[in-house]
Amino acid sequence: MSDRPTVIAIFGVTGDLARRKLIPALFSNFIKGRLPDRLRIVGVGRREWTDATLFDHAHQALKNHAAAIYDERAWERFRPMLSYSKVNLPQPETYRNLKDDLDALDNGDSNRLYYLSIAPEFYHDVICNLGVLGMARENGRERANTAPSWRRIVIEKPFGYNMESAQSLNRVVHSVFNESQVYRIDHYLGKETAQNILFMRFANTIFEPIWNRSHISNVQVTVAETVDVGTRAGYYDSSGVMRDMVQNHLLQLLSLIAMEPPSAFDADALRNEKVKVLQAARAVRLEDTVRGQYDGYRCAAGVAPDSSTPTFAALKLFIDNWRWKDIPFYLRSGKAMRQKTTQVNIQFKRPPNSIFELTEAGDYSRNMLSICIQPDEGIHLTIEAKIPDQQIAKSVDMELHYENAFVSEDLPDAYERLILDAINGDAALFIRGDEIESAWKIVDSIIEGWECDPAAPAMQRYERGSWGPAAADDLLERDEHTWRLSCLHQS
Ligand code: BG6
Repeated sequence: MSDRPTVIAIFGVTGDLARRKLIPALFSNFIKGRLPDRLRIVGVGRREWTDATLFDHAHQALKNHAAAIYDERAWERFRPMLSYSKVNLPQPETYRNLKDDLDALDNGDSNRLYYLSIAPEFYHDVICNLGVLGMARENGRERANTAPSWRRIVIEKPFGYNMESAQSLNRVVHSVFNESQVYRIDHYLGKETAQNILFMRFANTIFEPIWNRSHISNVQVTVAETVDVGTRAGYYDSSGVMRDMVQNHLLQLLSLIAMEPPSAFDADALRNEKVKVLQAARAVRLEDTVRGQYDGYRCAAGVAPDSSTPTFAALKLFIDNWRWKDIPFYLRSGKAMRQKTTQVNIQFKRPPNSIFELTEAGDYSRNMLSICIQPDEGIHLTIEAKIPDQQIAKSVDMELHYENAFVSEDLPDAYERLILDAINGDAALFIRGDEIESAWKIVDSIIEGWECDPAAPAMQRYERGSWGPAAADDLLERDEHTWRLSCLHQS
């Protein structure tokens, strides 16, 4: 490891993400001995805090959000790595203070990670001001026998509000940073089981030969949440489920499922293949979409009383390439739903000919491979098996549960992986600029249709605690499919 110091500057250190995720993720990596030597963490915020205020804040964050790993002695060693620097984000003159604070830590000679965990309207200001002060410049003072220093920026979602704003943000980013310095986060890619999609597909030989339109009937991605809008109406009511969940998390899962095998597990190879999937998506027809809003959403604090923001969406999408042509990918996501579950269900085609008595349902069930992203992480394979003493088949599950298969390993939080990857310069699990734009293109045309096309499907109401509006079931029934769910907690 380089002897050069590493500095992480967390913009928005006083906010929710830093408290719940970033500080605990850094602490956990620290305990595991995975952080670089000579690391400093600078919390950046506009409040009149001192280092001591930040210590208290971080201490409390760890006790509340990392209770399982919290250790007083480790905290005592972690605390001196922290310091606070005040910046008023829209005011350029205050960045000088930040630069001085950072330079004082390392003589301007460190590796630096700028982590933007702030409201997106400030991205532009921060990036430009870092640029003006030359703080994105790498390799400032190269010393003999040392690796060049690096400067990286991590940018949280939402990255833009639509394709146009994402393009414009990309232009701003690229006016200061090279793409290789940019790490756009989608925390779903940091989830262990999302990463395991790649291992399952490309560390085994049995799946790839059947991973195509000849054997697969349809693919379903469900990301259901029980939480409602809560206190986030200010952001959510102007975004809705398409921007909040589909543009990023669902399309990323889809890309991992549908991509061609990359030639290597590195950022370029992986992202080249993922972006091809998004670029091959056929424009989604409005009649293949469903939008819904849960009962009571408009009464939530901060939501417009006549809000037409969807809290649920379902859609059918096709990938026009040789592997997937005409195979439907059904995606759905919603808030205030019955159970929290993220799962991908891949249904295979039925046997072409039957030599056994059929079930009462009149046909075999389709074999289904379910990738349970969360909770109860695992993989299920549903197959037809002979019912003892009868000549009839019944669907049974072969199940892998992470908690049983990996008893001594814990499941790290997604941010733990991602923050470490950014420090180590591995951008494989981060979104490239062209991927973001391709995903927006898919989502924009649906949102525009919903907002402007008189023929767009009407907003459906759905009950809290349901699986969404009935129209989402109709969407699949038209194709003689039904939403399938595996991986559920029985309740
Ligand atoms: C975020 C969305 O990106 O993901 C939230 O903004 C959503 O609305 C959250 O609740 C879901 O993440 P997870 O990891 O709880 O599934």
